[in-house]
Amino acid sequence: MAWLKNIIRNGLSGIEKYKYGKPVSELQRELGLERVVRMCSNENPWPLPESVMNAITVSLEKVNCYPDPQSYRLRRLLAEKWGVSTGEVIIGAGTEGILHSLFHATIDPGDEVVCPIPAYPLYRVAAIAAAAKFVEVPAEEGTTWEIGRIIDSCTEMTKAVIISNPCNPTGQIMERDRMLSLAHELDSRQILLVVDEAYAEYVEDPNYLAGIELFRDIGRIVITRTFSKIYGLAALRVGYAIAPKTIVEAYDKLHPVFEVSRVGQYAAHAALLEGAFIREVRLKTIAERSRVLRRLTDMGVSAENTRTNFVLIKHKKSDELFERLLHEGVIVRKGSDLGLEGYLRVTVGLPEQNDMFLSSMKKVLTQVA
Ligand SMILES: Cc1ncc(COP(=O)(O)O)c(C=O)c1O
Repeated sequence: MAWLKNIIRNGLSGIEKYKYGKPVSELQRELGLERVVRMCSNENPWPLPESVMNAITVSLEKVNCYPDPQSYRLRRLLAEKWGVSTGEVIIGAGTEGILHSLFHATIDPGDEVVCPIPAYPLYRVAAIAAAAKFVEVPAEEGTTWEIGRIIDSCTEMTKAVIISNPCNPTGQIMERDRMLSLAHELDSRQILLVVDEAYAEYVEDPNYLAGIELFRDIGRIVITRTFSKIYGLAALRVGYAIAPKTIVEAYDKLHPVFEVSRVGQYAAHAALLEGAFIREVRLKTIAERSRVLRRLTDMGVSAENTRTNFVLIKHKKSDELFERLLHEGVIVRKGSDLGLEGYLRVTVGLPEQNDMFLSSMKKVLTQVA
């Protein structure tokens, strides 16, 4: 059977399997724990509005039929929301699904995708899956990048630069001026800028430049957003992109045709109409984030504020803290899995989940002291 190894694509040796946050049931099985909280995937823990639950129920009536491959109703609503045409909107199976198809539609073998790191690990997977060379630009001083260094890392083989704004895992934004200079510089070099705005709805900062502004200004740019975070629909796998028509047309030729389920389309459409719910979740998350940070600071922990729904904890024994928290039934994310050594990333949960995390943290801190 040794020849089977030769069947596997050579380029895949550069990819490691994605290290996902542990599912609750897995930890319960492994450690025999009853109460487990999962604060590792930056999901929105607040209950969904009734209108979204109703839309899900209605969508189930026709699960024997294929969904609309155009996601037309949702596409039209998003086009209206952002003031673009329906031909400039992509609906896909989450940001992840969109990036895979986007890179497949744009990358020729040997092309490069440049990415400032630390970054969301799936960028690397999606780029290499499309046969790109993935070029990493390490941050200076932990969490920021010189725009010049990103530009200098581009060559004549660079097709795209991908960043998240706000950034996962650092939780910080790339400020307006820097974003503008990056976007204009890349455009002048005919390199596609892809901005992943998975956490944009959590940002309250006048210095944040939403990608749609860049799209209106430059046009030759791709912005991705998701229904997995503040909209609370991670399990349904729906994301979208605003992109130039030329890119959308190429994307439409090869993405999995029925990748967005009818349930996902209906739920996302209803969620998009729930502006008040989104504002409320943003405010409640920010209030809880501040409370968690205050309590951590009181414990003598070095915790960093972010513009997102997670906090970062800096600790020299972060991996040990991670393991000990698991034994307390608290699943957080190891920074070392995300290229952020010496950190823990903790999703802001419901107040009672945050309380469980904080009391467990207090306990494990004394154990590692
Ligand atoms: C920066 C970033 N982009 C995208 C995603 C995933 O989005 P989706 O569920 O839409 O694939 C995540 C999830 O953690 C993320 O952190």
